[in-house]
Amino acid sequence: MVQHGAIVGTQWGDEGKGKIVDALSPDFDIVVRFQGGTNAGHTVVVRREGEEKPDIFALHLIPSGILQPDKACLIADGVVVDPLKLEEELSGLRGRVKATARLLLSTKAHLIMPWHIVRDSITGGMVGTTKRGIGPCYADEKDRRGIRVMDALSPQHFGDRVREECEWNRHLIRAAIDHFGLSAGVWNEFCVDEALDAEKVVSDYLGVFDRLQERGLEIVDGARFLSHSERDAKSILFEGAQAALLDNTHGDYPYVTSSNTTVGGIPTGTGFWPRELFAVGVCKAYSTRVGEGPFVAEYGGEEEELATVIRDRGNEYGTTTGRPRRCGWLDLLPVRYAAMVNRLGALALTKLDILSTVDPLRVCVAYRVDGKTIEDYPANSEMLERCEAVYQELPGWQDDISSIRKFSDLPQEARQYVQFVEEGAGVPVKYVGVGKEREELIQIP
Ligand code: IMP
Repeated sequence: MVQHGAIVGTQWGDEGKGKIVDALSPDFDIVVRFQGGTNAGHTVVVRREGEEKPDIFALHLIPSGILQPDKACLIADGVVVDPLKLEEELSGLRGRVKATARLLLSTKAHLIMPWHIVRDSITGGMVGTTKRGIGPCYADEKDRRGIRVMDALSPQHFGDRVREECEWNRHLIRAAIDHFGLSAGVWNEFCVDEALDAEKVVSDYLGVFDRLQERGLEIVDGARFLSHSERDAKSILFEGAQAALLDNTHGDYPYVTSSNTTVGGIPTGTGFWPRELFAVGVCKAYSTRVGEGPFVAEYGGEEEELATVIRDRGNEYGTTTGRPRRCGWLDLLPVRYAAMVNRLGALALTKLDILSTVDPLRVCVAYRVDGKTIEDYPANSEMLERCEAVYQELPGWQDDISSIRKFSDLPQEARQYVQFVEEGAGVPVKYVGVGKEREELIQIP
């Protein structure tokens, strides 16, 4: 039986999943994005022999496997696809990667249309979304009015659907502006007329699909492609975007994204049930969160200086939006919860190098709420706002650890930190990230 793999986030995203996918993808034949869209930003830093400066790839929609030669990379049905952004991303890779990887897009994936981005700009503020149109596109899918990749393959039908949706969205956007008491000026600010110019949208989207296919994008039935690939003994790596606490069902609702970011999103997002799946959870050595929502172990007022140090050292600014991320101590409760909902087989602990010189370190091991101490993540945003972190202090280390490649060569305090996470999460740590670059990774046998 072929064993497949999954990489998923265990916190609130930005754990460094791209780097771990890049490290593990040589062992697989196919890399698949199964949910989310251009709200994701997966960074891979590659230093080529003889080149002084590393090449930094920020992938939003294309699976990180594209950086490895000879892989097939599938954008599956559960992804919401902005084809204009896909073209931009593909252009950005030109000349930087060996073009031998195959890029495939599944026919049932929904398209992000310009009106989704307008609606996200109007309604996404409460959650602090990335304003990439993700929520409205998934909402239209569930409301059975979405437009899919397959529709763009029938120009006449696509034109009819776009015209219908432009009409409907004109009413919807007008009503939303009234409802939220926004000034009439936002109509121009969000370029609503352009977003609802049906003939322009049709020509832009059909044009982009033609160009993408000319450049080698294959449009396929993703479920069938994966099923046939497995029959041919090909192994598949599923690349999760966002993370457990942003899962639409299992996360800190309503401060979540609009897809299922946990392994449950794989079968629904691909139409393929991976019977043998080994899931690796990526956990950053501290916590960050971007956007609104509860964050129990966030650095408090007296830790403002530390927050600035960690944000700068860890470059904790959104890959997609550039927003500064909120920072905090590592919190074991979300990680344990993510281990449960994803049935994790291993953890990858990333960015351990960023904690060098922070001494002492603290790790959140429980919450105090309503006079009780709890150790299980409640996934209840209202209750989380009232929770107080209970910390365990651990000694820090002073040395730069980025050149270390063997676990046993890490300072004793760093090893102790890793072991503490492993015990607290109940999952073995198999990878430790000690720097941004591809090679800066310790594998624990
Ligand atoms: P949306 O996915 O753009 O609808 O945003 C919903 C929430 O998920 C917001 O709090 C975003 O900041 C967060 N979010 C979405 N994608 C990512 C990501 O890739 N990393 C971190 N946070 C994300």
